[in-house]
Amino acid sequence: MRIAVCPGSFDPVTYGHRDIIKRAAKMFDKVIVLVAVNSAKTPCFTAEERVELIKVVTEGMDNVEIDTFDGLLVDYVKEKSAVAIVKGLRAVTDFENEFQQALANKILYDGAETVFLTTSAENMYCSSSIVKEIAKYGRNIDSFVPSKVRDVVIERLCKTNKKEEEK
Ligand code: PNS
Repeated sequence: MRIAVCPGSFDPVTYGHRDIIKRAAKMFDKVIVLVAVNSAKTPCFTAEERVELIKVVTEGMDNVEIDTFDGLLVDYVKEKSAVAIVKGLRAVTDFENEFQQALANKILYDGAETVFLTTSAENMYCSSSIVKEIAKYGRNIDSFVPSKVRDVVIERLCKTNKKEEEK
């Protein structure tokens, strides 16, 4: 069985992530969406919350599993005998960082290849950071996330909601 790991912060998961996961699921027998720790970021949602939101967007994808891991990605990949690490690439701005990670991962563990899938054009500007930024101001994020994710994100981040709670 050819297993791929699709790692990320998924804080929160977006249509961009869903597109990459869906396409990876066509290429591999099993895809594990891995909520991993990016030490450069402080997440807004707990790992459990992120898993719940990923469940929403991957509903019906039968060969997709979701897991969490707090450690080096390559250790997880090796433990699962995965053959690939799948990442989405949006623009040149993603490239340098992703390239560095792919090379480092390859040095740490030679048993899996990093596979980059180019983003679909409509998700070119879709990122978790943008979603959170827009949600803070209570504006429409429907182009980036499905309604169930939207409601959770707005509830957590919208500044107007917070002011109401403080009253
Ligand atoms: O969605 P992100 O934040 O770009 O995902 C980055 C992530 C979580 C995949 C990356 O930081 C990662 O692999 N973290 C696990 C720890 C690790 O292996 N770090 C070394 C990468 S070279």
